[in-house]
Amino acid sequence: AGSGKFFVGGNWKCNGSKESVSKLVSDLNAATLESDVDVVVAPPFVYIEQVKNSLTDRIEVSAQNVWIGKGGAFTGEISAEQLLDIGCKWVILGHSERRHIIGEDDQFIGKKAAYALSQNLKVIACIGELLEEREAGKTFDVCFKQMKAFADSITNWQDVVIAYEPVWAIGTGKVATPQQAQEVHAAVRDWLKTNISPDVASATRIIYGGSVNGGNCAELAKQEDIDGFLVGGASLKGPEFATIINSVT
Ligand code: G3P
Repeated sequence: AGSGKFFVGGNWKCNGSKESVSKLVSDLNAATLESDVDVVVAPPFVYIEQVKNSLTDRIEVSAQNVWIGKGGAFTGEISAEQLLDIGCKWVILGHSERRHIIGEDDQFIGKKAAYALSQNLKVIACIGELLEEREAGKTFDVCFKQMKAFADSITNWQDVVIAYEPVWAIGTGKVATPQQAQEVHAAVRDWLKTNISPDVASATRIIYGGSVNGGNCAELAKQEDIDGFLVGGASLKGPEFATIINSVT
């Protein structure tokens, strides 16, 4: 871990029921967590309020998506104002599942980030390459292009955490090696230094996501430019998620 306070997010994706959410919340409430770590969990929209009302204030709550602007006649969407209204302070944007399964593009994601930040909703901004892009030697190009789309829309970087999630590592059990992750994190930090400012580069948390679990988190956390994690599957298990949070070095 390097700059800024260690940050661990749990992205529950489209998983859970009232019952499993209640069990996970009680496990998280019972866990002993290192104090020097920001912890955020992102339940599906329909459980955000249940989580807010039962989870310890030690852990903040995030949404997994948000509408691009102010609410109104947008069937099926949820606005930043509505999230804030129920005490949700964060949103995950640019996740690869929304890019590649739902079809959101860089510009749409950038606009969502701009509006969310304008309303003081904090953003976990995700980037990451596909396997074929890595194999074609395009990892940096893809990540920098995704970074540029965010940067074109972002002015207040203090409310942004960047998540590097190589798509080939998500939900596959194939975690990036600490060296592979560190290499991209360092390149992204360097990109921020050149394209935004040295201050933003050193203050912005760059977290890693993709098959992080209780067994591999410690080695990853030792890397200089890995400032935390965005965890999918393993965040659905309270004790394992606590182990990942406590891997801060
Ligand atoms: O956002 C977290 C993520 O996509 C990683 O998922 O299940 O590989 O930890 P998982």
